[in-house]
Amino acid sequence: MKRDKFMKVSLVKSDFPIFDEYPNLVYLDNAATSQKPHTVIDAVKQFYVKYNANIHRGIYKLSENATQKYENVRSKVAGFIGCDDPKEIIFTKNTNEAINLIVYGWARVNLKKGDIVVLSEMEHHANIVPWIRLKQELGINLYFVPLTSDYGLDYKKILAQGFDLSKIKLVSIAHVSNVLGTINPVSEIVKFLKENKLSVKVCIDAAQSVPHLPIDIRDLDCDFLTFSAHKMLGPSGVGVLWARLKLLESMEPFLAGSHMILKVFRDNVIFADFPDKFEAGTANLEGVVGFGAAIDYLNKLGMQNVFEHDQTLMKYGLQELSGIDGLKLFGLKEAKNRIAIFSFGFEGIHPHDIAQILDEDNIAIRSGHHCAQPLMDSIKQSATARASCYIYNSKEDLDKLVMGLKKVKQTLGI
Ligand code: ALA
Repeated sequence: MKRDKFMKVSLVKSDFPIFDEYPNLVYLDNAATSQKPHTVIDAVKQFYVKYNANIHRGIYKLSENATQKYENVRSKVAGFIGCDDPKEIIFTKNTNEAINLIVYGWARVNLKKGDIVVLSEMEHHANIVPWIRLKQELGINLYFVPLTSDYGLDYKKILAQGFDLSKIKLVSIAHVSNVLGTINPVSEIVKFLKENKLSVKVCIDAAQSVPHLPIDIRDLDCDFLTFSAHKMLGPSGVGVLWARLKLLESMEPFLAGSHMILKVFRDNVIFADFPDKFEAGTANLEGVVGFGAAIDYLNKLGMQNVFEHDQTLMKYGLQELSGIDGLKLFGLKEAKNRIAIFSFGFEGIHPHDIAQILDEDNIAIRSGHHCAQPLMDSIKQSATARASCYIYNSKEDLDKLVMGLKKVKQTLGI
C-alpha cells in the first residue's frame, strides 16, 4: 500500500518511543544502528510474557508455539528479500558472523593456496578481516577493487590486473557503502563477471542496503547475501545469511554444538540438515521474534516508500551540505546511485570535535574510521564525520545538522 509520496515523518516518528524520551534528539547515526518502534519492543516483551520456552526441543504447547513464532520469522525474512525457500535463511548473530560463516563454512573448504578473493576498497572490516585470516591460513590472495574518482567502484579493473582470472573464486562486496552511501551496481557487476566468463561466486554485504532499498535476490543474482536486524528497526544480536540451496548443501558448519546435530556418538557426529546445521546453541529467540515485527513494520510502510523517503533526504542533504563553505563531502556528488549517508569533514579539524559540538545540540552523528580503515587510506583521511538517515528523519533534521555545522565553524574559528 502506497502511503504517501513523502512518508508522514511525524506519524512514523511517533511510533518510536526514544523520541518521547528525548524530544529534541536529532538521530543521524542510523548506519550504526536504527531506533526501534513500539511494535518491535512489544514483540520482544510479548515473547517473554506469552511464549517463552526453548524452541525445537520441547513437545509441550508452549515450546511448540515458540518454535512456530521463530520459524514464522524465517519465512518473513525470506519473503522480504524475494527468496522462495525459507530453508535458505540462516539466522546468525549479525552480518559479521554471517560473513564468517561463508568464510569458514564455504571458502575454507572450497579455496586453496593461490586462489583469489576480490573485495573492494569500500568494505567494512566485517568483510575484510575474516578474509585476511583466511589468507593467512590458506595462502589465498586478496584483490581490492579501487574507487573511481567519484567514489564508485572501478570493478572493470579486475580484468586489467594481469593475474590468472581463473584463480578468482569469489567476489565479496558491499551493496551500499557504510561511509560513502554509494549503491554499488551489483547485478551489473554479476553480469560483467559472467560476460567475461569468470566463474565466481558473488557475496553481497547488504547490511546497509536491506534496511533502505527494496531487495530481490533474484534481481541481484548473487550467491550469498548478509545483513543485520538492528539496522532495520529490529533488535541487535540477530543477523541473516542467505545462500543458494546448492551452496548450503556443500557448506560445513562454523559453530558446532547443540541443536545442529542429528546424532552424536562418542567419537563422531552426524549434522542436522540446514538451517539447523548452521544455528548451533539456543538462538536469540526474542530477538528473532522482534525482527519479525520490524519486517512487518517496514512492509506496512512499503520498501519503495522507504527508499523514496531516503532519496528525498539524500537529495536535500547533498544540496544543503554542499552549500557549507569549507565542508568537504566524501561520496558521489551526483544525487543518484547513493543513499542518505553523508561523510564529511573540515580541513584541519578532527571529526570527533565536529561530533562533540553537534552533540551539544542533541545531534547524534558518528565520527571515526567507521570500521573501514582501508577506505580511509583510499580517501586519505584518518577519520570522517558521518550523518546517516532513516525513516523517522526529516528535512528539518538536516536543517539542524547544517545549522550545527555552521556553529562548529564559528566555535572553532574556521
Ligand atoms: N557498521 C556500523 C557503522 O557503519 C557499526 O557504523
